[in-house]
Amino acid sequence: LMRMKPRKTGFKFQPIEPSSKDELVLPRGYTYDVVASYGDIINPSKDTFGYNNDYTLFFPMKEDEDRGLLWVNHEYTNPLYVEGEKVNDKYTPAQIEKHLYNQGGSIIEVYQDKDGRWKLDRTSKFARRVTGLTPFALTGPAKGSTAVKGATEVQGTFANCSGGRTLWNTVLSCEENFESTSEEAGLEPAHYGWVIEVDPFDPAFKVRKHTALGRFNHENASMGIAKDGRAVVYMGDDKKDACVYKFISKGKYNKAAGKKNSALLEEGTLYVADLKKGKWTALTIEAVREAASGKADLLEKFKTQGDVVVNCHDAAILLGGTPTDRPEDVEISPFDQTIFVAHTNNDKHGNMHGHITRFFEKDGDLGSEEFDFEIFAAGGRQSGFSAPDNLTFDSNANLWTVTDISSDKLNTAVWKSFKNNGMFMIPTIGPDKGIAYQFASAPVQAELTGPCFTPDEKTLFLSVQHPGEETTDKANPTSTWPQIRGGNMPRPSVVAIRGFKF
Ligand code: FEO
Ligand code: CA
Ligand code: CA
Ligand code: CA
Repeated sequence: LMRMKPRKTGFKFQPIEPSSKDELVLPRGYTYDVVASYGDIINPSKDTFGYNNDYTLFFPMKEDEDRGLLWVNHEYTNPLYVEGEKVNDKYTPAQIEKHLYNQGGSIIEVYQDKDGRWKLDRTSKFARRVTGLTPFALTGPAKGSTAVKGATEVQGTFANCSGGRTLWNTVLSCEENFESTSEEAGLEPAHYGWVIEVDPFDPAFKVRKHTALGRFNHENASMGIAKDGRAVVYMGDDKKDACVYKFISKGKYNKAAGKKNSALLEEGTLYVADLKKGKWTALTIEAVREAASGKADLLEKFKTQGDVVVNCHDAAILLGGTPTDRPEDVEISPFDQTIFVAHTNNDKHGNMHGHITRFFEKDGDLGSEEFDFEIFAAGGRQSGFSAPDNLTFDSNANLWTVTDISSDKLNTAVWKSFKNNGMFMIPTIGPDKGIAYQFASAPVQAELTGPCFTPDEKTLFLSVQHPGEETTDKANPTSTWPQIRGGNMPRPSVVAIRGFKF
């Protein structure tokens, strides 16, 4: 198994202080370009960029990496700026359409101009939208099962929070808090809460939901490979007292098969982490029915593997899965194959600032059924960060995390000292291991999400999500970032940060 070696010299930047400014604050020498904002036209058919951009994933189109496709998730809308308030406690069909259109994902084409600034190419042949209105295929054990009302195709994707890259270079995007949209739009809830797969380059690749990976409030999906060649996907269920999961494919990854490897995500075993025993417990219908024996309601609920994946959390708890403090992003270290999990917080247990857990798989094998773990870094005043959410690695074995203190708590009570949300670099090796250095501070009431380095690490794509989220009066927004098009409207936008030096 090939492992990356860290570069000898890391990024140099003077860490910033926490900030309450209505600006994306960066260390001296770093700049950003606003690449795409809510409502921007992205292609000749006049599709528009959705709301509340989250996960980003860059696909270079040329070797010099100055042009590429960027997948961007759109997690949710704000009725004040998108669909408008309900009339008599109900949305009209036109409002529902807006609500669904502005979630899902965007594929945009981006390039650097002669001055190095990143721009959106609105003439792109590849740019398109995947939305709450797009038809999806279901794969895996729930496909056609009674647990999804017999569906083999379903309408749309929404609540797309974070995601992951497959070994065969497609994107996985995760449906997280799907409940309100499915209810408001009158859609079957069992059709949401899945991991979807999209090929940004190929519209003929049918967009699909892989039910074998379970249905819950999916944050992201981090793919790696077991020592024997099976594909492994780590996932967190971002709810209070919810579990960490991994899926191991039945078949083995075959590089030559290219995108046909997608079939690996249709059949395999879904496991839940038992942190007491240090064991990955397989969520099979046989095990669930054995644990349910004598309990008529559970035996009625769980009859097939389709029922297990649709009601994943209940099956996991029944089999001894450990409830944790809101597992958000999970990332596999490319340096030592340990697994980092951002546990953002859980006020039910007084964990106000969250922590980052590190799993050590037995023999460093992602295919193992045993593990040990440690708390790698704890949020709080001492570390300087609170509520870790998305994670990504750079080539110097630094873990980068963005924080998500909710808008109503920012700059109040025990969250005061952190000021606005931010982005932090945390070395995972060397003398500074576990120390957080602040790299960015978000505009007012925004969250930084979806950090993604270009392969040359000269650019970091980053989403600035929900600036001015607490605004109630459009005439007096709480944030006016990014002040484009002469307007005062706070606009969720994807930026490209430049200035990285080694
Ligand atoms: Fe959408 Fe768990 O953050
Ligand atoms: Ca998130
Ligand atoms: Ca979050
Ligand atoms: Ca968010």
